[in-house]
Amino acid sequence: MQKPDKKLTFNFFDYKWSKASEWTRATETIYCDWYLRRYGYQNLEGLSDFLKDKKIILEAGCGQARDSKLFAICNLQAIIIAMDQSPNAVRVAKENLKPYPNCHVVRADITNFAFTEPFDFISCDQVLHHTSDPHLTLQHFYNNLKVGGVLNFSLCCKKNQLRDRLDDLIMERATKLSPDELWEFAEVVTYLGMALNKLGIENVEWEGTHYSDIQRFVHNHIFRCWYDPNINFDLSVSSNFDWFSGNPRFDIHEVGEMMNRGLGPHQILRFNKDDAVFSVSVRKISAS
Ligand SMILES: C[S@@+](CC[C@H](N)C(=O)[O-])C[C@H]1O[C@@H](n2cnc3c(N)ncnc32)[C@H](O)[C@@H]1O
Repeated sequence: MQKPDKKLTFNFFDYKWSKASEWTRATETIYCDWYLRRYGYQNLEGLSDFLKDKKIILEAGCGQARDSKLFAICNLQAIIIAMDQSPNAVRVAKENLKPYPNCHVVRADITNFAFTEPFDFISCDQVLHHTSDPHLTLQHFYNNLKVGGVLNFSLCCKKNQLRDRLDDLIMERATKLSPDELWEFAEVVTYLGMALNKLGIENVEWEGTHYSDIQRFVHNHIFRCWYDPNINFDLSVSSNFDWFSGNPRFDIHEVGEMMNRGLGPHQILRFNKDDAVFSVSVRKISAS
């Protein structure tokens, strides 16, 4: 599994955000619900309760800043920094956060920013695995948290040997493609997902897990071909584009090891795994 190359990651994501349009907003609710579930807040009331004493918040690798908007809705008083390295993400994020004067969009590298004040809460969702040394990124977040502050982060999980081997094979090749070529590749992959979905073979059971149809099963176990008939086609393409642009995956031991290396004294508030990601919430408990 190759380490993500910072220059390529920056390049691929900036290209993706140059394409972002209405479809990014159209899925906010789906992703926000997923965030609330994975980190254990369940609903807006739960998140508002968690955020009520948070004065300064960082969303690291904000993309379109969907999560910052969610935080702003739940706490209008907090200062919220939405950070991304991509100029196009910054542009889209600024547009999305216009109605929220407590949000500030900053273009910076999440792996080495310098802030005058530590944060009460850092959220880094769907990003950490795109950084070259995730344990160092965790360490950087930890150093920028107040004692008692909370860090939420997610990491993609390994699936199985076959799916992981195919992912690595394609990712190695994808690093040699231009963003246009990778987008085209992601479109073809999405058509494959669509074709599988259109077969109409529903309710696949495998080792105690239920998959709504054969596309979900193939996607999870054999070949990355994300497709969701309920969302804009380009959004499914962008998800496959992100994936193949370089997306290391981890197992539970690797996540544990990364936390041991990257984090000082902490309390685990939540450790959740679903089909796609580990979602972890930790509290910093001393100045280390
Ligand atoms: C998969 S997107 C996730 C965006 C957002 N967190 C979400 O869940 O929709 C990853 C984002 O992280 C940003 N990113 C990756 N590495 C970064 C770095 N070192 N510094 C700042 N942003 C970075 C990319 O530009 C991209 O917008």
